Amino acid sequence: MAHYFDEDPEAPSDPRRIDVTVGSISFSLDTDAGVFSHGRLDSATALLLNAAPPPPATGDLLDLGCGAGPIALVMAHQSPDATIWAVDVNRRARDLTASNAERLGLTNVKVCTPEEVPESLRFAAIRSNPPVRIGKNEMRSLLTVWLDRLEPGGVAHLVASKHLGADSLSSWLIDRGHPVERITSRRGFRVLSVGGRPAP
Ligand SMILES: C[S@@+](CC[C@H](N)C(=O)[O-])C[C@H]1O[C@@H](n2cnc3c(N)ncnc32)[C@H](O)[C@@H]1O
Repeated sequence: MAHYFDEDPEAPSDPRRIDVTVGSISFSLDTDAGVFSHGRLDSATALLLNAAPPPPATGDLLDLGCGAGPIALVMAHQSPDATIWAVDVNRRARDLTASNAERLGLTNVKVCTPEEVPESLRFAAIRSNPPVRIGKNEMRSLLTVWLDRLEPGGVAHLVASKHLGADSLSSWLIDRGHPVERITSRRGFRVLSVGGRPAP
């Protein structure tokens, strides 16, 4: 069965350009079959983009699971002096994010596989509509890896659906020692602000 998180989607390409508007930022985004949210901006992603505060102006910022790139490209507009790392396991997603960034002249976006992010890098902010469909335990492992790479004072903003376990995700993060705040809740989705764990 085909998934949006397959490394090499088999679905024939079917490019569709959409408009993305967040506050005063507006741009067009190419999407494709085999990549999450083909032909539309996902409503959870839209909620995250509208609810999260502006990201830090400088430093390294992560879009975990970039898909076609809406989160990375909004951050690149908002923080032109920051470096935006757009990471995905899906090759077609990475290609789309890279070509969208290039077409929009956003030179501060680095697109790569998770393994290509330098080990020593720490993030001033992380934004993600995480891949819940990979399974609860797998997604928690994934978040563990990346949330532990927040720099001191760094904050992650995550969106999750209540139906797919946003509240248990929040409790799990708190149990791991992360400060968690629900910054908005709409139409069954929660946006969580998640701080780093205190140093041991
Ligand atoms: C829910 S989609 C969000 C896509 C995009 N950020 C958006 O909002 O439209 C989650 C993305 O995570 C990617 N993904 C799945 N497993 C991953 C992993 N282990 N590391 C990085 N990205 C992953 C999927 O391929 C997918 O593109």
